[in-house]
Amino acid sequence: MDEKILEIKDLTVSFGENRVIEDVSFSIKRGEVTALVGESGSGKTMTALSILDLLPDTACRRKGEILFDGKNIFDLGPEELRDMRGNAIAMVFQEPFTALNPVIRIGRQIAEAVSAHGICPRSEVRERIKESLSTVRLPEETVYQYPHELSGGMRQRVMLSMALSCDPAILILDEPTTALDVSIQKHILDLIRHIQKDRQLTVLFITHDFSVVRTIADKVCVMRRGRVVEQGAKEDVLGEPACEYTRQLIACIPVLGDKRERLPVVDG
Ligand SMILES: Nc1ncnc2c1ncn2[C@@H]1O[C@H](COP(=O)(O)OP(=O)(O)OP(=O)(O)O)[C@@H](O)[C@H]1O
Ligand SMILES: [Mg+2]
Repeated sequence: MDEKILEIKDLTVSFGENRVIEDVSFSIKRGEVTALVGESGSGKTMTALSILDLLPDTACRRKGEILFDGKNIFDLGPEELRDMRGNAIAMVFQEPFTALNPVIRIGRQIAEAVSAHGICPRSEVRERIKESLSTVRLPEETVYQYPHELSGGMRQRVMLSMALSCDPAILILDEPTTALDVSIQKHILDLIRHIQKDRQLTVLFITHDFSVVRTIADKVCVMRRGRVVEQGAKEDVLGEPACEYTRQLIACIPVLGDKRERLPVVDG
């Protein structure tokens, strides 16, 4: 498959005079996992928020366009934008703990996500919630629980199920496993990869961690200080990184004894 579903062209964003994204260009192909990787502050989240046209009010888009299915999202009207967010492009935000409402049971939060876009008749909401939970391998009883009663990994699954509930064309995951310990991280990565393959989902996966890139990505795009410094197929970027910065990030993959610790490759 070789079709571009999303194309970012020469995107430049600033806060005042401070350019936090500069001339960023890359594209995402249908059915692929593109990893956007870079150190903290390199502009990954700002790039993702640009895709949804959800930059903070204080940010200024100076230049560039983002084509989704060939249409520039910055030309869309409010209704088309609303339709795109959630329905066509769903995002799991970086802070999963703040994204869930602490005083509302999980079932109702998923119900709101499922019915928010009007694609699911009321009579089917209950069934859809059940389906959503089973997709992310959570027990049905989770609907009765509050966010604080769940582990970090379970909360992350809930976020994932909410993002998937409207069957998006593109799923953006911003550091979905960073807050989790390594074994839970692996479970979530396995799950994401499994769902991605099963549904032929297009995923933009944001991380600062090359061991995650190795597990999950098809393509890699490396950012540094607001710029894309390298991009290509995972095998090429990991096998023969063209720039020193990428080499340094790869060198940060945890080492066990003599060998590099390998996160087990996901099945399927
Ligand atoms: N509301 C804001 N006002 C001013 N500057 C901001 C704001 N939000 C982000 N920035 C700046 O924009 C730059 C890019 O931030 P961004 O959140 O995209 O980084 P990131 O790559 O996602 O980092 P992390 O891995 O820590 O999440 C940073 O230098 C940050 O300081
Ligand atoms: Mg970020």
